[in-house]
Amino acid sequence: MTAPAIYPSLANKTVLVTGGAEGIGAATVERFAYQGCQVLILDLNEEAAQRTIAHVSHLQNEAKGSPSTKTPIFYRCDLSSLEETKATIAKILEGWTTVNVLINNAAATGKSARLRTEDVTSDSWDFLAVLPAMKAAGAGSIVNLGSITWRIPAPDSPVYAACKAAIMGLTRVQSKEVGAANIRINSVMPGAIATQRQREDVLTDEYRAEIMRGQSLQRDLLPEEVAKVIVFLASDEASGVTGSTYTVDGGWCSDP
Ligand SMILES: NC(=O)c1ccc[n+]([C@@H]2O[C@H](COP(=O)([O-])OP(=O)(O)OC[C@H]3O[C@@H](n4cnc5c(N)ncnc54)[C@H](O)[C@@H]3O)[C@@H](O)[C@H]2O)c1
Repeated sequence: MTAPAIYPSLANKTVLVTGGAEGIGAATVERFAYQGCQVLILDLNEEAAQRTIAHVSHLQNEAKGSPSTKTPIFYRCDLSSLEETKATIAKILEGWTTVNVLINNAAATGKSARLRTEDVTSDSWDFLAVLPAMKAAGAGSIVNLGSITWRIPAPDSPVYAACKAAIMGLTRVQSKEVGAANIRINSVMPGAIATQRQREDVLTDEYRAEIMRGQSLQRDLLPEEVAKVIVFLASDEASGVTGSTYTVDGGWCSDP
């Protein structure tokens, strides 16, 4: 990768990335580690998380003099279980006192996002467990991952689209609730991002042609292009930004 911008305000911060084992989450882990953050990965997939950690360690060893020396740490957790999430975050907070930055990224994606309404079994909203520690620390930044699915709008994934549309509203409302505690909450709406899962599950020639008809940029968008915006929003360079949604979709539907 080309050398990323360095945000001094992120040095030594503790950053929790849900779904950090793969895709956009893994690219985000790499970018925060580069900033000198202690990154905590909360994910279901231990094997993929260990691959991401090994990759980040390799980059850290290669780049002598890079600000990053902290190896990311993995916590196994199924975020669809509120109990398990609360217990895992309690364990994390025993070790790290606070989480300065929370990236709510995990989601069932690819084929599994294509659930028709009648097939849905459960859903949960589970990131509030980190808020009390952030409030006690006197500051924090949260970035929620939405999607342009509901804006296109894409057929076949009504529940995914509804949840992702809700992220925008949730972000706006919660930014009001926690602003007085000096906590910023923003969201990022990716378009079609060519993660490994997307390449394997959905990125057929036909779908790519549809994406190119929609996008202004005539190329695949990469996970790190979303990660860059997430890291910026978490940093003090975005200190006045809260309740906002940034679209990273190559111009597919980037009107306000
Ligand atoms: N890739 C895209 O084109 C795209 C487009 C729009 C929005 N998004 C959003 O970006 C975020 C990341 O997507 P991605 O494409 O990188 O996904 P991905 O499938 O590549 O990675 C998702 C990660 O979340 C983890 N995860 C899933 N369910 C979990 C659970 N219950 N508990 C713990 N971990 C869980 C997976 O193990 C995986 O590591 C998601 O919120 C997704 O909705 C992605």
